[in-house]
Parts: sequence; structure tokens; C-alpha cells
Amino acid sequence: MNVMVVFGTRPEAIKMAPVVQALRQRSDAFETCVCVTAQHRQMLDQALSLFDIEPDVDLNVMRPHQDLFQITTAVLNGLKPVLEERRPDIALVHGDTSTTMAASLACYYLKIPVGHVEAGLRTFDRYYPFPEEMNRVVTDSVATLYFAPTGGARDNLLRSGASPSHVFVTGNTVIDALFYTLSRSADRLPLTLDPAKRLILATMHRRENFGEPMREICRAIRDLVDGFSDVEAVIPVHPNPAVREMVTQMLCDEPRIHLIEPQEYEPFCALMNRASLILTDSGGVQEEAPSLKKPVLVLRDETERPEAVQMGVVKLVGPHYARIMEESVRLLSDPAAYDAMARAVSPYGDGKAAQRIASILTHYHAGTLAELGDAEMTT
Ligand code: UD1
Ligand code: UDP
Repeated sequence: MNVMVVFGTRPEAIKMAPVVQALRQRSDAFETCVCVTAQHRQMLDQALSLFDIEPDVDLNVMRPHQDLFQITTAVLNGLKPVLEERRPDIALVHGDTSTTMAASLACYYLKIPVGHVEAGLRTFDRYYPFPEEMNRVVTDSVATLYFAPTGGARDNLLRSGASPSHVFVTGNTVIDALFYTLSRSADRLPLTLDPAKRLILATMHRRENFGEPMREICRAIRDLVDGFSDVEAVIPVHPNPAVREMVTQMLCDEPRIHLIEPQEYEPFCALMNRASLILTDSGGVQEEAPSLKKPVLVLRDETERPEAVQMGVVKLVGPHYARIMEESVRLLSDPAAYDAMARAVSPYGDGKAAQRIASILTHYHAGTLAELGDAEMTT
């Protein structure tokens, strides 16, 4: 079976790497072509090198200050000749980026089936997150096979009319990537930290948070570090110019706030492991941190990942100064409140999602999907 795996950004690379590895381990069953759009450049290359993935095709689309029109048209036009020449039996895409949506559309135009990894996530608010919610809806409309990370994602797909025989709950491949990385090393910190101090790890990059919301987030981080002399913060700063300008302007002269470059996945996992508290608007970090027993305050008003919120280990605080301060101060000062959130739960997977996806693909190709029954993950 010819499988083309298409992705373009850091989180897609981290989450598709286990799938590429699983397909390559079964070279008797799969001929695997990895096509990167390189919607991200440096951050994509960091993830590719960690997982030893050499792309077969690289569209190299990233431009500084790119906008949604540029990414979408560059991916569509770049993929057309690649898909026409290789005509895969199926193309696998991941998640909700512009690469995901444009690659799905390109496959649709050429009548090439699409398998959607991390299918079915929804906030049901078309502008939040923007443009990711619409990217998911379009991709799920085009897809033929759905690899849903959770039962909730599966239910969303079934409610929107996806064929039940083509929807599978596999777990999220991010947990495969996390376990793989932790098994190699989890203590290679990228900077020297004071062992006597607690660490707040923060990441942010969402378009909805550009401008004033990001200013409020930065103000809260600054005041938290000012208020607790035994706390320091690390922020790997996303290279998006809108993020970089604000974070640098607001936080560059605070001695206990370390602004660092985006980290390779291994040292970033070490930072998550070392953190006492994580503040983030990232999707992937919300999924990883509960497996590491780390409380997460999500800098967004809504999430398409409600499972960990329902379990009480992740809390939504939005990009709002007062809420961030209130919840962070509580967690940093009240051990009982902290312990209630610092529990190891893993609603997003058991580390075997990629193997399940490979197995489902062989049945799809053989026309024996019905034999699979319920491919629910067991956690
Ligand atoms: C993109 C995705 C978002 C995903 C995020 C993960 C879209 C529209 N957005 O947002 O869904 O959550 O990636 O991080 O698909 N840049 C670099 N080097 C890099 C990467 C980015 O310099 O390796 C800079 C460039 O100036 C680029 C800008 O960041 O133009 C924005 O990148 P883009 O992919 O458009 O948006 P993200 O905010 O990264
Ligand atoms: N991550 C990383 N280095 C960093 C920051 C994040 O490797 O400096 C990882 C993180 O562990 C997660 C993924 O990148 O797996 C999340 O990427 P991002 O927050 O950019 O995107 P999102 O998940 O929100 O789409």
C-alpha cells in the first residue's frame, strides 16, 4: 500500500513521527512517502531530526510573516504535481493547521482518499480557534478514514455524519511521541536553573491571543515571578513575529524570566518534567502535561480538548490577567489545591496509537475494515 504522510508544522511533525515510524517498521505492507510542506522551517527541522525522518518531498513554503492565503495557495500548488506523480492509495494528514486543510483539499481535487489523524476535535465556534476550527471541519468533510484520539472526538464525528465503519478511536499519537522521548532521556535541560526555585513553564502562539491578550498574559507572568521569590519562569518564544515582539518587549529585562529559543522536543520534555506549573495556549502541551503529572492553566477561553479539564488536571483561565493570577497564586501557595491538580492521568492515549493506525490501514487496504470491530484504545 502506498501511503503519503503530509505535514508542515512542529506539532504535526511530533505527532506524525510515530506514525511514520510505525509504517516504516512494516515495510512489507507499506511504501511510505513523507511529504513536508515546511509551513514551519526551523521548528519542523528540529522535530524531523529528533525522530530521524528524512522527507522524500519538501515544498519549503514558509515565508516570514506569511498569511493564511499564502500558506493555503502554496500548499495547494506545491502538492498538485507531487500527488499527480505519486498517486498514493491514501494520504495521511494531521490535526488542524493550514497545511492539513490545504493538503486535504488537494487530495479531494485529485480524488485521493485522506486519512485524518487527530480527527474530530471541535469547539463548535468557527472563529475560535481561528482558523483551526474551520481547518478541522473541512478536513473531516474530505476525509475517508478517521483516527479519533478520544471517544469524545469520535462522537463529534458521528454527529457530523461520518460513516461509523470508518471512525476509530486510536488515542493521540502525541503520547506515543512523548513516551518514545521520555524513554531516551527526560533530564537534558536546555539551560541552568536554580534547583531551589520552582519553575513556571509558559508557551503561547495562538492568533486569538495576539495583541492585548498576550500583553495581559505577559503582565501576569511578570507579576507572578515578582510575587514569589522562589519562582522562575522559562518561555521558549515562538518565532511568529507577533509573539516575539510582545514577549520580548514585556519580559526581556526580568532576571528570573528566561526567554529562550523554541526547543527541540527532548529538552522541551525535560522542561515540562522540571516544571511546577505550566501556562500555555498550546494544544499539544495540554495533552502531554497530564501524563507528566503537571497542572496546566490554559490561556484560552475554550478548548477542543475537554477531557483533561473534566478530570480536573487542566483548567481554562483564558488570556485574562486576573484569572491567571488568581489560579496561579492558588496553585503556588496552597499545597492541597496543587496536589488536587498534579495527578497523573492520561485521557489522550496509551502510547500505542500509531500501531493501531498502521493496523487499521492494512485492513482498509485489504477491504476488511469490518473485521476490526471496535478498535478502542485500552488505557
Ligand atoms: C501554525 C498553525 C497553528 C499551530 C502552530 C503550531 C496555521 C494557520 N497555524 O501557527 O494551527 O498551532 O503552527 O506552532 O496553520 N516562523 C519561523 N520559523 C518557524 C516557524 C514559524 O520563523 O520554524 C515564523 C515565520 O515568520 C512564519 C510565522 O512564524 O511566517 C508564522 O507561522 P505560521 O505557520 O503561519 O503560524 P503559526 O503561528 O506558527
Ligand atoms: N514543543 C517543543 N518545543 C518547544 C515548545 C513546544 O517541542 O519549545 C512541543 C510541545 O511539547 C508539543 C508541541 O511542540 O508537542 C506543541 O506545539 P505548538 O504549541 O507550537 O502547537 P499546538 O500544539 O498548539 O498546535
